[in-house]
Amino acid sequence: MASHSNKRKILVTSALPYANGSIHLGHLVEYIQTDIWVRFQKMQGHECYYVCADDAHGTPIMLRAQSEGITPEKLISDTSKEHQADFKDFSIAFDNFHSTHSDENRELSETIYNRLYDAGHISKRTISQAYDPEKEMFLPDRFIKGECPKCGAEDQYGDNCEACGATYSTTELKNAVSVVSGAKPIEKDSEHYFFKLPDFEAMLKDWTSSGHLQDEVSNKLKEWFEAGLQEWDISRDAPYFGFEIPNAPGKFFYVWLDAPIGYIASFKNLCDKRGIDFDSFWKADSDTELYHFIGKDIIYFHGLFWPAILSGSGFRTPTAIFSHGFLTVDGKKMSKSRGTFIKARTYLDELNPEYLRYYFSAKLGSGVTDLDLNLEDFRLRVNSDLVGKVVNIASRCAGFVKKKFNSTLSETISEPALFAQFADAAESIAGHYEAREFSKAIREIMALADLANQYIDDKKPWQAIKEEGREQEVHDVCSMGLNLFRQLMIYLSPVLPVMAEKTCDFLNIEAMQWSDVQTPLTNHEIKKFKPLMMRVEEDKVQAIVDASADTTQAAEPAKPSKKKKADKSIETTPVVSDSDPDHRLADPISDMVSFEDFAKIDLRIAKIIKAEHVEKADKLLQLTLDIGGETRNVFAGIKSAYAPEDLEGKLTVMVANLAPRKMRFGVSEGMVLAAGPGGEDLWILNPEGDQANGAQPGMKVK
Ligand code: MSP
Ligand code: ZN
Repeated sequence: MASHSNKRKILVTSALPYANGSIHLGHLVEYIQTDIWVRFQKMQGHECYYVCADDAHGTPIMLRAQSEGITPEKLISDTSKEHQADFKDFSIAFDNFHSTHSDENRELSETIYNRLYDAGHISKRTISQAYDPEKEMFLPDRFIKGECPKCGAEDQYGDNCEACGATYSTTELKNAVSVVSGAKPIEKDSEHYFFKLPDFEAMLKDWTSSGHLQDEVSNKLKEWFEAGLQEWDISRDAPYFGFEIPNAPGKFFYVWLDAPIGYIASFKNLCDKRGIDFDSFWKADSDTELYHFIGKDIIYFHGLFWPAILSGSGFRTPTAIFSHGFLTVDGKKMSKSRGTFIKARTYLDELNPEYLRYYFSAKLGSGVTDLDLNLEDFRLRVNSDLVGKVVNIASRCAGFVKKKFNSTLSETISEPALFAQFADAAESIAGHYEAREFSKAIREIMALADLANQYIDDKKPWQAIKEEGREQEVHDVCSMGLNLFRQLMIYLSPVLPVMAEKTCDFLNIEAMQWSDVQTPLTNHEIKKFKPLMMRVEEDKVQAIVDASADTTQAAEPAKPSKKKKADKSIETTPVVSDSDPDHRLADPISDMVSFEDFAKIDLRIAKIIKAEHVEKADKLLQLTLDIGGETRNVFAGIKSAYAPEDLEGKLTVMVANLAPRKMRFGVSEGMVLAAGPGGEDLWILNPEGDQANGAQPGMKVK
């Protein structure tokens, strides 16, 4: 592998999704993992291309199109549009997304086959297979059903029994029927073409044990060598949706022969569009890098057939194949009846895709172990890490810089050692990304986020700003905080491209490169801070599960939604108590409430009779409010924005029917409404004095 300081040339693929189904969260483990890795490589300044395509051929696609009464071409073109929209919305940034049913792929498949044929790696012989005499087609195993020859269980597919686990050949099934027509299959002879995999035994033994595969994969393949390599049937009889084999009328390439060639075809298509040198990437002695990201279920195809086919036809072999495990949801296999077979679009209808990108990266390592999406953990983790830690840093500093310091960062970095500590983490974090140890990268980044929050907690700019002569200090602390935030967002940008883009906009900078962590932003004008990410809401997570529950499968009825879906959203800004561990000031992020719930709130004009500091409280002021003959004691977290003397005698708006709440400093009998990002930028709602509009204490606010 080329060294890090050199500009590498890298071609990356994800497995090609079948063109007869929707993208679901399981698929997304792979596409998100690959996309993060590719974005990381591009940020390093390497020349990196990420290509994919729809896997468009085969019997299931042909039959699906027939049952829908459309041509396979129409089916695959509709599916391609749907897939690409899903990928785009999850920020999966392919350089090219093509189709295996393309001119490039036909040409390359023919070339590769002809070269293998000419080199003597193709054999031909007649075999006998199950055939549907009514539909007049050969039947793949999964299109035959019958009774298990061992235990007699009914309705068993093709070649294995789900009841007793027996494996057998389809010809042994009792009372077998064709799933396509219901007819009884017969045995029929036909000539087939085989790829002579055993010709490549020596090459494969060497290739699979020399660093191109993960250790556990390489060990698995050893078992297959022990079982002995078999010739591989690469032909299918008409009718078949695919490419006809050269000089073999009525015979088609099996879908798994032309599918991986689709990687090359998609790249060829990209090269033609962008003028990239195709041969330098695919010639046998290429010095570029080639990586395939795949799921553990398709290792056999990628670890054995594929390198053999490439080497037998004069192309380069992959630098590495990276396999990942399978997604489970709440500890179980994704299931339609449990509502955990979640389609990409169902998720997108409710939640921010970056939540899932973050959650997957926080759990992904370089191994082949399965990954669990625990829906509760998902919500809590994203809220605590991204909203509570990362965004919090920016929201605590931005307001002061804007309001007090003309939106401009300090001239110098006040804590160079801290800045350097963040910058020095670049190598280690890059190492984790490179090694696909994303969870380790995330752990290191979040440890830095904790340090940044700790720093701000220690410096308490919201307190310092109240004291004379400490303005410069506040400016420095907040500028420092925003610099630390920027460093964190550079490290997170492969995972969170949309939030990274919003960060660039807020900080008024160009797209971030990895090396930018080394250079601070000083004497630099920033823009207005807008919330960069909202909290994951529990209802939305439940809504996804509800929407995914297949009500046609009565096995396990879908759980009813715990909460009613909000029919109207109102942004309220709760004034937080001093016991909030994160010191999250007037958090701009809120949960949805229904309109009925909102209507229950009794809002009253209140006159602030008295306002005092609260001993030992960082954020609280104690207010005595008059709501028309009745006085209320309220603790409000507005100390960062108001001095007591500014408030006395003024009118504000309070929630009058809030249940009294016992706090560390006394009982709070209501809440004043405030708005703003926090810190200095926090305003209590003010009905503009009693002369202007006749507002009187105790009046209801409508
Ligand atoms: N068409 C073949 C791949 C051909 S590659 C030349 C295929 N398609 S697929 O749609 O079934 O799967 C696409 C990728 O998604 C595969 O790598 C597969 O392992 C992965 N996943 C599909 N379901 C998955 C999970 N539940 N969890 C994790 N990955 C999953 O296979
Ligand atoms: Zn059985």
